[in-house]
Amino acid sequence: MVVAIDGPAGAGKSTVARASAEALGFTYLDSGAMYRATALAFLERGGPAADRARELDIELGRRVRVEGRDVTEAIRTPEASETASRIATDPEVRHALVDRQRELMSSGDWVAEGRDIGTVVAPDAALKVFLTASPEERARRRAAEIGVDPETVLMDQTLRDEQDRSREHSPLRAADDAVDLDTTGLDVDQVVERIVALARDRSE
Ligand code: CDP
Repeated sequence: MVVAIDGPAGAGKSTVARASAEALGFTYLDSGAMYRATALAFLERGGPAADRARELDIELGRRVRVEGRDVTEAIRTPEASETASRIATDPEVRHALVDRQRELMSSGDWVAEGRDIGTVVAPDAALKVFLTASPEERARRRAAEIGVDPETVLMDQTLRDEQDRSREHSPLRAADDAVDLDTTGLDVDQVVERIVALARDRSE
């Protein structure tokens, strides 16, 4: 079974998806890490980004490795984030990474997180959740996590949201059959409980 969790930057997808996967005994897929790893390789080695997306040896898990090198921190810098969002507008990059995500999820139980899991990667997912929170709350959470001031985070986040929502290919949007979950004012445990309950309900 696949649980798809999509939503804008800083809605808490990673924390919530990881914890939900653990609670359900499913494997966690961080699709954004694949866009980020591709972006880092593109920055370091040059383009075309689609070639990087096709050929790169990406290992996902607690630590993210590219060609064996630990890039867990390197893919989270503001430059890598901005570049990830930019190369994610390229249909060839998306095609290559979506193929790899579908291949991974072709067997087993998954909680997959991203922007287009419910709409493109796994349109048949048993449960789709669209996770949101107010822009200020999202910026505050991200700022606390990376130790930058919330105003700067809010500016970068607004730009990236706009880029993700307005791109021509697979723009960020909720699938028609997604459950909207606004996490403003909720803590991680409350959100995870809700998702786990919904997933158990759908698997019966
Ligand atoms: O953690 P955060 O939500 O800030 O970002 P992420 O999930 O790591 O994704 C980084 C960037 O990759 C996003 O801004 C999107 O542009 C892109 N992305 C995408 O287009 N499709 C996905 N399924 C996942 C990420």
